[in-house]
Amino acid sequence: MADLEGNISAKQYFVDTPQVTPGFHVKGAGNLDFGMKHRLGRIFRSDGRTVMLAFDHGYFQGPTSGLERIDLNIVPLADDVDALMATRGVIRSLIPPAIDKALVLRASGGPSILKELSDERLAMTIDDVVRIDAAAAAVQVFIGGENETQSVHNLTQLVDAGLGVGVPVMGVTAVGRELTRDARYLGLATRIIAELGAQLVKTYYCETDFEQVTSACPVPIIMAGGQKLPTIDALMMASRAIQSGASGVDMGRNIFQRVAPSAMITAVNAVVHENMSAADAHALYRELSDGATD
Ligand code: R5P
Repeated sequence: MADLEGNISAKQYFVDTPQVTPGFHVKGAGNLDFGMKHRLGRIFRSDGRTVMLAFDHGYFQGPTSGLERIDLNIVPLADDVDALMATRGVIRSLIPPAIDKALVLRASGGPSILKELSDERLAMTIDDVVRIDAAAAAVQVFIGGENETQSVHNLTQLVDAGLGVGVPVMGVTAVGRELTRDARYLGLATRIIAELGAQLVKTYYCETDFEQVTSACPVPIIMAGGQKLPTIDALMMASRAIQSGASGVDMGRNIFQRVAPSAMITAVNAVVHENMSAADAHALYRELSDGATD
C-alpha cells in the first residue's frame, strides 16, 4: 500500500513543462491505434483543443431548462462546436445523421434525480457506440462517492470494450455534494481515471492550482461547465482553465441557458482556439448578442 502521508506532500508537477506527445496533436494519444487517433482527431482540432456542447442532462433529470426542445434549441447550434455530447436516445431521434460533428455518447446511467445518483451502471454496449459512429463514449466516475467501486468498474469495462474497437472513453469526474472541488480532490479523481485507461477526462475547474491537475493528468482534461454563471464569469473560468492546461471545454447550461447561445459559442471558441482573453470574449458576446446582459 502506498504511503498516504508521503503522498500528501512532496509533489513536483513541473507545470511550466508541457507533456510532449510525439507524432500526434492529442495529449497522451501518441501510442494509440489508428482508429482511436482518428476518433480523437474528430474531437480535437489540430491545436489539440476542443469545444464540446453538452446536452445529455435529460438522462437523469428529464426536460432540463433550455433543453425542452433539442430540435429547436440545440440542433441550430451544432455546426459551431467541435463535438456534441448527448445520449443515444437524443442522437437517434433528433440529431440529423448528415451532421459532420464528433459525437460523444453518454454511456452510463441508471438513477434519476429522485435517487442516489452515484448508483450508475453502463447504459449501452460498445457495439451501439460503434453503430452510431461516435467519436467517444463517456462514463461518470464517482471517486469518493458511495458507489465508487461500481463506477470505477463501469469505467474499466467501457475502456476494455473501447480498446477492442478503437473507441476512446471519456471519464467524467462526478463531484458529490459532500466533496470539495479543490485541486487535491480533482487531481486524485482525474489521475485515477487516466491511470485506469480513459483517453480523455472531463472535470470541473478550481480556482487554485488547477494547473497541477492538468499537469499530473497524462491525457487531455476537458473542463466541465456546471451551473449557469454570469457570462463574464463563465468565460473567465473557461479562459483560466485553458491557460492552466485544459485541452478544451464541455459546456452545457452556460451555453444553452443563455439569452444568446450562438454568441456564447462564438465567444467560447475564441477563448479556447484563439486564446482570447475573457474580457475580449465578453465584449464579443455583447456585440453579437445586441448587448445581452445575462
Ligand atoms: C455531467 O457530467 C453530465 O454530462 C452533464 O449532464 C453535463 O455535462 C453538464 O453540463 P453543464 O454542467 O455544463 O451544464
